[in-house]
Amino acid sequence: MTSGSAATRLNRTLSTTDCPRLQIALVQDLFPRDLQRASVIPRNAKPPRPSRIEVAIGFRAGVPISAERARQPVRAAWEENVMPHRNKIRVSQPDLSARERQYLLDAFDSTWISSTGPFVSEFERRFAGFADVGHAISCVNGTAAMHLALMGLGIGPGDEVIVPAMTYIASANVIRYVGAEPVLADCDPETWTISPDSISRLITPRTRAIIAVHLLGVPADMDAVKNLADDHGLAVIEDAAEAHGATVNGKPVGSLGDVSAFSFYGNKILSTGEGGMVCTNRGDLAERMRLLRGQGARRDRCYQFDEVGYNYRMTNLACAIGLAQLERFDELRARREMVRTWYDRALNDARLPVARQRTTRRSASVLWIYGIVLKESVPIDRDALRQRLADDGIETRPFFPALNTQRIYADCRNDEGCAVSRHLGQHGIMLPTHSQLTEGDADRVVGSLAAALQQPVGAS
Ligand SMILES: Cc1ncc(COP(=O)(O)O)c(C=O)c1O
Repeated sequence: MTSGSAATRLNRTLSTTDCPRLQIALVQDLFPRDLQRASVIPRNAKPPRPSRIEVAIGFRAGVPISAERARQPVRAAWEENVMPHRNKIRVSQPDLSARERQYLLDAFDSTWISSTGPFVSEFERRFAGFADVGHAISCVNGTAAMHLALMGLGIGPGDEVIVPAMTYIASANVIRYVGAEPVLADCDPETWTISPDSISRLITPRTRAIIAVHLLGVPADMDAVKNLADDHGLAVIEDAAEAHGATVNGKPVGSLGDVSAFSFYGNKILSTGEGGMVCTNRGDLAERMRLLRGQGARRDRCYQFDEVGYNYRMTNLACAIGLAQLERFDELRARREMVRTWYDRALNDARLPVARQRTTRRSASVLWIYGIVLKESVPIDRDALRQRLADDGIETRPFFPALNTQRIYADCRNDEGCAVSRHLGQHGIMLPTHSQLTEGDADRVVGSLAAALQQPVGAS
């Protein structure tokens, strides 16, 4: 209990566009009788950089109120009254222009709204050029694309597939879909992508394929992965869901393995809402994956099915959006590069104790998500830090938990507990990253991080 003269201070990080008077009024409303003083103390108020403003409130002598009791109503009132006046910074948002709208309306007006129509074939043709592959096959989402890739390669029960422990769950789920066994490799501590050394420790006579995930837009070390695969006769599947347009040795990801998969989910660099593409240079594989995508229907005879297939087709409507996004790719990528520059600069200036992702050698990454990993010295728990950012109107995501920490994959063979992936999964934060973010937004995010790291407990 803090009583009376010991002031309870509630500190918040605000940008210069915020409204300190509103907060004073808010605090006064909350504690009409007990409040001794409420004041705002601007700090570093050098526009256009965000300033830090503390709302300091002190309670009158003899008022028995704990810091925690004071903080709870302030947080609730903050969310209700202050937040609507702030611009919320979303972790991700699609970038849709008049072109996407026009193509979508064209598809709509044509009445070709299912999976047949000119936008489907045109999107596939243009995407094949973009990814530098012989065949690009659109499908309902990135998970379906990965599933088609594994089925196309004929992977099934009794087979093992090596997948990095640091990835989104879909990369492993698809291995189980086909009845094969995921084997979890650790990742490189600098690039956070699959570690070739770790792969080499896990290969057995049952290994059939390696899934190389281009994590957060950074390509996996494809030279090393392919050398290992060649030495052991394994297939390479690129999970390029997060890395449209990244390159290795000047060649686009998606063209480097036997087969590759892209996602067009709403938060991806190219987005169609839901959607995916599976790509390959192998004609036999393409043929098989097309068959499986369309219920297993034979092309030469109507309603004749020789095997059980899936309805994984993407609609003409979604492909219309996809084509427009593809035509705007250079613009979308350039905007994300600006975001990377702003975060890099702001984080360098603030000298925060966070690690950042390095790009793999001989490759050019794209920025899907700007990730940071808290160093051991940081005095605040990752989730508490995310809450502080949320209080400031900044949406974030935690890193994917390492697959071997997920109940469903905990019993999979893995590389000695995958310590690097576990560490990233526990201490990583995905910062807001999208093409509409401004330099002021990036400053606000880093300003909020800095404030929380400097004053981790929120009350003193
Ligand atoms: C690495 C990775 N693989 C696969 C997927 C699955 O893609 P989708 O959500 O389109 O099914 C995602 C999507 O977030 C992903 O990040």
